[in-house]
Amino acid sequence: MKRPDDVPAWREDFPYESEGDDHVTRRDFARFLVLLSGGLAAGNAVVYLRSRRPPEEPHARREIARVRDLAPGSAVAFRYPDEATPALLIRRADGELVAFEQKCTHLGCPVSYEREGGEGEGECLRCYCHNGRFDVASGEGTSGPPRDLRPLGRIALEVEDGRVFAVGRPPRRGS
Ligand code: FES
Repeated sequence: MKRPDDVPAWREDFPYESEGDDHVTRRDFARFLVLLSGGLAAGNAVVYLRSRRPPEEPHARREIARVRDLAPGSAVAFRYPDEATPALLIRRADGELVAFEQKCTHLGCPVSYEREGGEGEGECLRCYCHNGRFDVASGEGTSGPPRDLRPLGRIALEVEDGRVFAVGRPPRRGS
């Protein structure tokens, strides 16, 4: 049989019609709506369940050191609020007590207390991984990668009868 002139030659090899390929049946559309509704309902259920979670427990008050055991310009490591979170209690050169989480806000290496330039000079919290430094008073990054990041997590302290207690973690800038 001779092919009509207005039909291209490839049509004889591939005689399939593409009309209707994009046609969406009512059944497909209904299935899509059911799936979409199910997804939205599941999302709402997750949000609802999360909102019903009890508020975070206030952090426990934990004794971490005695003031007389801490010489000015020294630091002692402890863990707070749980055993997985290392922290540093520092008695600054001027006698002030401060405490911070020990995890560097850059990539998580431990920071250590350091007195720069020897006796009587400045002091900082230093991360040796990428030579980052933090201010001892505020926990803010002062040089290296941490300079543009969040400050170290601070731990609130109370002193009672010469004993130092960790009493909580105030929210930090950027959290
Ligand atoms: Fe502390 Fe990079 S991990 S500066």
